Order: sequence, then structure tokens, then C-alpha cells
Amino acid sequence: MPHLSPILTDTRHLYFPVMFSLKDRNTFRIPCFCRRFAEFSDAATLAALVAQAHAEHLPILPIGGGSNLLFVDDYPGIVLHSAITAIECVGEDAEHVLLRVGSGKVWDEFVAYVLAQGWSGPESLSDIPGEVGASAVQNIGAYGAEAAQFIVSVEVYDMQCGESRTIPAADIHYGYRYSHFKGPWAGQFIITHVTYRVNKRYVPRPLHGALVAEMARQGIDPATADAATVRRLTCAVRRSKLPWPEGPGSAGSFFMNPTISARQAQTLLAQYPDMPHYALPNDMVKVPAAWLIDQCGWKGRSMGPAGVWHKQPLVLVNNGGATGRDICRLADAIVADVRQRFGITLHPEAIYIGGEQ
Ligand code: EPU
Repeated sequence: MPHLSPILTDTRHLYFPVMFSLKDRNTFRIPCFCRRFAEFSDAATLAALVAQAHAEHLPILPIGGGSNLLFVDDYPGIVLHSAITAIECVGEDAEHVLLRVGSGKVWDEFVAYVLAQGWSGPESLSDIPGEVGASAVQNIGAYGAEAAQFIVSVEVYDMQCGESRTIPAADIHYGYRYSHFKGPWAGQFIITHVTYRVNKRYVPRPLHGALVAEMARQGIDPATADAATVRRLTCAVRRSKLPWPEGPGSAGSFFMNPTISARQAQTLLAQYPDMPHYALPNDMVKVPAAWLIDQCGWKGRSMGPAGVWHKQPLVLVNNGGATGRDICRLADAIVADVRQRFGITLHPEAIYIGGEQ
């Protein structure tokens, strides 16, 4: 048996004794179970939980808000959730504040906190489901901003060597919906804190077209926009397009927007002149997955209890009673259709737990 820290004598941190339902811990609301579930509110408890799981040869799955996960199967090991939610100011200069935030803090509560202090930065990332730890894994993004723009460093517990350490953002290799936590480091670290740099004043950035359109619709003069206005507009636009939070279960965007070569884009544009496309460096072009799926006629369609959201085809939904496999079948059918029609392979943004992936 590993040495257990005395904190484990506090039974609130002990494993649940029976199979634990994760239905309320994944935003798809897929019925599924894990063998055990535990929360940690400090690094010492986390270390003890990991040691105990290793001793029992149980795999470990850290989860946040469960808003980017698709449980295809039950999870045979221990699911760990961070209950570290404090926000500490750990530095500042004339223009910025450094905030060290617990990985279990609900992301949108963090955004609301920043704006309530009169600070700014992540306002266009308002209303994104999930928690702070996941923001650093997924590099959540919307309306021209992404979490990586604000991340200074990430504190992790390394499950391989049993040590806590701080990783500077530059070493995490952030990209579009990508971090090394999803790549070569998958399964190695559990995030305990993320340090963000936010602005003391409102620093206007070019507004995404969807926000500009919403501003015009609401009769707001762009010159008067501040961080609170951007937050309000962002929430309004998201709620008009996405099922979150009242509608059917979903994981937000299910697929990532694919990147294709400029040459392939030109060939496709000859056939589909209306295809939206955005030039990237290195002769690459990004195409909205929503458009590709829409063109294939999937918008608003269902396959059994799994459906494609009628206002945004990038979002797959659980119309009630769907299993992870139902969602998978729908996703596979969409991928096959898009590939056949456009020669483009869509990749899920959602992380599959179990299944063949
Ligand atoms: N489109 C259609 N049909 C539709 C909807 C969209 O053809 O029914 C086309 C349009 O051409 C539109 C384009 O798809 O211009 C892009 O749509 P949108 O601007 O709504 O954004 P997105 O690329 O589909 C991304 C993020 C969203 C984020 C929005 C807003 C990804 C995978 N998704 O979606 O993130 O909110 O931009 O910036 O990059 C999330 O990750 O959960 C999420 C919602």
C-alpha cells in the first residue's frame, strides 16, 4: 500500500464505494458510470489519490465540467475532479494582473470575476461551458479569442514521477483547439492551477463579425463598447445558436474546423464558389465544418436519439436517451458523407472515452 497522507482520513475525499454515475457530469447527459469518483482540493490529496489508484492498477481520468467528453463506454477506473476554485492575484504591472486560478473554477465564473473587477481580456470567451483546467487543455476559443492568449503558466501534478511542477505557456505548444496536454502529454498530468494575464483596462480588439452584427441588431454604437458589452453580446449570440445551457445535452462544437491545402481549396472553390474559407499561414486554408455538414444536408437531422442541432450543425445533441454509441454512429455518418462529397476528413473536438478511438 502506498503511504496515504493523513488528509485521506477525511472521508469526503475517499472513493465512492459503488459504481458512480457520470450522467450529471457530462454535458451530453449520456448515461455512463465509472468505477470510482473522487475530488481533490489540494495537491497533497491529489497525490494520495493517484498513488492509491496506481497501487490498485486503476486508470485515471481527470475531468472538468465534462463539456468536451463523449463517453462511448463506462470508465473502468477512477475519475478525478478538481475542487480547487480559488482565484489569487499573484502579480501585476501597470497594465496587467496575473491571476492564479484553481482548475476546478467554472470558466465562465472566472470570466465574470475578471470583468467584475473592471479588468478585461477573456470577455469574448464568455458563456463557454467547462472549467479552468479544461480551458488550458482544449485551448477553448470563440469570436477571435482563445484561452492561450491569456495563459502564462499551468501548474500540474505529474502522475509519472509523482511531482508537482509549473509549465510555462510557451512549452505547451498551443494551437487551434490544441495543447500538448491533448497530444504527447495525454494521460501524464493533472492540472491544479492555471495562471492567466488579464488587462487592467479594456483593450478593444477587432470584433468578430457575429458580434458586430449583434451590436447593429441591438442598436449599440461600437464606439461605446466595453468589456461588459462584449460579454453581453457574446452570451446573446451563443444562446441564439447553441443548445447550451437549457436545450438538449451536447458538447458544444463536436468537430473541429478542418484545415486543407490551398490547392485543395481552389479545386473545391471551382465547384462550390460559396464555400467560406479563411487563409492560414503555410498555404493552408480553414473551412468551417458547419458549412460542410450543412451542405451534406445534416442540419436538424437525427439518427435515432442522436441529432444535429438545427441552429448550428457543428453541434451534435442528445435528443433524449442517446448512448455514447448513438452519438458515435451519427458522427461517423457525418464524417463519411463530408469525406465522400468534399474529400475532407472531419476530426472531433470532443474527446472519446472508450470506443475504438
Ligand atoms: N455555417 C453554415 N451553416 C450553419 C452555421 C454556420 O454553413 O448553420 C457556416 C457559415 O459559413 C459560418 C461558418 O459556418 O460563417 C462558421 O460558423 P460560426 O461562425 O458559427 O463558427 P464555427 O466555426 O462553426 C467556431 C467555434 C465555436 C465558436 C464559434 C464562434 C470551433 C470548432 N468552433 O464555430 O466554438 O463559438 O466559432 O467564434 O472552432 C465550441 O467549441 O463549443 C464552440 C461553440
